[in-house]
Amino acid sequence: MDIEQFVEDCLIANKESDAQTAVSDVLAKAVSTPNKVLEAIGEPSKAGLRVFLSSPELTIFAATWTPQMNLMPHDHLMWASIGIYTGREDNIFWRRTPGGIKAFGADALFQKDTALLAEDALHSVTNPLLRFTGGIHIYGGDFFGTTRSQWNPETLEEEPSDGSVIRGIFERENQRLGLNGDMSPSA
Ligand SMILES: [Fe+2]
Repeated sequence: MDIEQFVEDCLIANKESDAQTAVSDVLAKAVSTPNKVLEAIGEPSKAGLRVFLSSPELTIFAATWTPQMNLMPHDHLMWASIGIYTGREDNIFWRRTPGGIKAFGADALFQKDTALLAEDALHSVTNPLLRFTGGIHIYGGDFFGTTRSQWNPETLEEEPSDGSVIRGIFERENQRLGLNGDMSPSA
C-alpha cells in the first residue's frame, strides 16, 4: 500500500457529489487487504494517531487503540468513516435527548470492516481485545481544528473537545500502560 497514493485517491473521491460514499469506497478497498496496510504503517504498539492528511476538507489518520482501551462518547460535527485493518473496534451509538445523551445502537467492527457515520453521529469506542486495534479514520473536514463535544463516561456531562483533548487522552493511555507517550513523528 502506498499511503501517498491512498491520500491522493481519497482527495479525488472527496470531490464526488456523495463524497463520503466515494471516499469510503477507497477506504474499504484499502482495508480489504489489511496485510498491505500493516506492511505500510506497521503493527500498532501504542495508542496513537498517525496523521496522513490534515486539511480543511479532509482529515485522514491511523488510530491505534491499546488492549481494552475506551474512548468516551463524542461527536465529530462532520461525516466520519472508519476502516479496521487489525483487531476489533466496538462502537456504541448515542443520540441527544431532552434529558441528555442516550445509547441506542451498537456495531462491532472487525478487520476489513468499514463504518460510515453521519455528520450528527455520536459514538463511544472500545477495543474489547487483549491486543491492539488499528483503524484508518477519515473525516469530511478539519478534525483537529474543530471544537466539538465529548461526554463524561460516568455522568454523561457534556464537555468541550478538540484535537488536542483527543491527543491528551491517547497520551494518558500510553502513560497508564507504561508505554512511550510519543505518538509518532507526524502526530
Ligand atoms: Fe470518533
